[in-house]
Amino acid sequence: MATANRGQWSGKTAFILAAAGSAIGLGNIWRFPYTAGENGGGAFVLIYLGFVFLVGIPVVLAELSIGRKTEKNPVGAFKALVPKSLWPYLGGLGVATGFAILSFYAVLAGWTLSYLYGAVVGIYGGPMTGAESQDLFVHLIGDPTLTISLTAVFLLLTVLIVRKGVSGGIELATKILMPMLFVILVILAVRSVTLPGGLEGLEYLFKPDFSKIDGGVIMSALGQALFSLSLGMGAMITYGSYFPKNENIFQAGIAVALFDTGIAILAGLIIFPALFSVGVAPDSGPGLVFVVLPSIFGSLPAGQFFAVAFYALLSIAALTSTISLLEVVVSYFVDEKGWTREKAAWILGATCFFFGIPSALSNGGAEMFTTNFLGTGLSFLDLNNVIWGNFSLTIGALLLCIFVGWKWGIPAAFESLESSGHKLPGSKLLGILIKFVCPIAVGIVLVYIVATQQYF
Ligand code: PFF
Repeated sequence: MATANRGQWSGKTAFILAAAGSAIGLGNIWRFPYTAGENGGGAFVLIYLGFVFLVGIPVVLAELSIGRKTEKNPVGAFKALVPKSLWPYLGGLGVATGFAILSFYAVLAGWTLSYLYGAVVGIYGGPMTGAESQDLFVHLIGDPTLTISLTAVFLLLTVLIVRKGVSGGIELATKILMPMLFVILVILAVRSVTLPGGLEGLEYLFKPDFSKIDGGVIMSALGQALFSLSLGMGAMITYGSYFPKNENIFQAGIAVALFDTGIAILAGLIIFPALFSVGVAPDSGPGLVFVVLPSIFGSLPAGQFFAVAFYALLSIAALTSTISLLEVVVSYFVDEKGWTREKAAWILGATCFFFGIPSALSNGGAEMFTTNFLGTGLSFLDLNNVIWGNFSLTIGALLLCIFVGWKWGIPAAFESLESSGHKLPGSKLLGILIKFVCPIAVGIVLVYIVATQQYF
């Protein structure tokens, strides 16, 4: 049986933790705050939350329904449902997107390792001004040897876990560590909100200023909702394919979406009050979290302890996400190309490292990748983040909804979600969302962006 060879989560909780592990990562703690900051705060957050509920949750369930039904990787899943059609190419786009996101995500994850080291040796954890923190950050990300080495280390860790397979590696890493991350985040949020000037940050985060909204803001909010929930590239198809047949997959999917969104908001509660308190601009860009956080630790009793714990857990949260990115690609080569898991993990991890090098050199390491890559005004890494992290996921999610709503059919998808015998609550609404609301909403955003050329 396919199931026996491919592995399976040991139960619903294990799935929730692993899928939440995939969803919760740098997307919540690094990407969400700086994207919200660049896009004007409250209004962005509101639109982001709207997309999570109107598009994110339906797409989570649509992807899970395909994975559970077919028990396959994204390409194999479409091949099984609609053989001899173009749909498997949608799975192929997902696999390529997973690979591309991994190539730059591993670079950022490498930064977290460096911060962990810095916390352990006492660089972070004591009092530090915003300017000092900024200096350290710029120095770190501009060092080519360091960033390339850390990317390699992070990919190595990812490969070592993915080669072990679903329940052995991935479950273990998430079971204890995700709840610990949550506790640390709550403590940091409480500290940050009570810093002098903290309330201003809360206002920025939650008080929408609708004059800030344009096509770029809406696109970023949609991209962020999908990126954060690991959607639009088949990660949830892959993870759903390992879901035990007798468990309630609907509940699990909702739990993952709520956890993920809660953690992003919690990250906002940490970053925004703190940045107002230390005088860093909210629209400082991708370095925001890395620059702001060290100054919070200094204001906490036992700051070094919190710094070490936080960066350790952030590294692990990033790791459970890189695992899922690599897992999508590996599962394709294992299922479709007949590679062993071991071979796929090593070869794909190594290839991804080479593709990641320009991203590692994107912040000062090499001029040509750093500023204005191909005339876009963005660095190589930031451009990849927009192309793959926003556009590819958005196109993937749009086509996926069209597939489930109009080709495979809502009844078939719901039958898959209900195959454990658990009835789907709100199925009428969900059907409408997948069939009409998601494709129309996502389609309008894409057309508008292309028409107005407000890509980022
Ligand atoms: N959701 C992850 C995060 O927020 O960090 C990133 C990610 C993982 C995106 C897996 C897409 C994916 F398939």
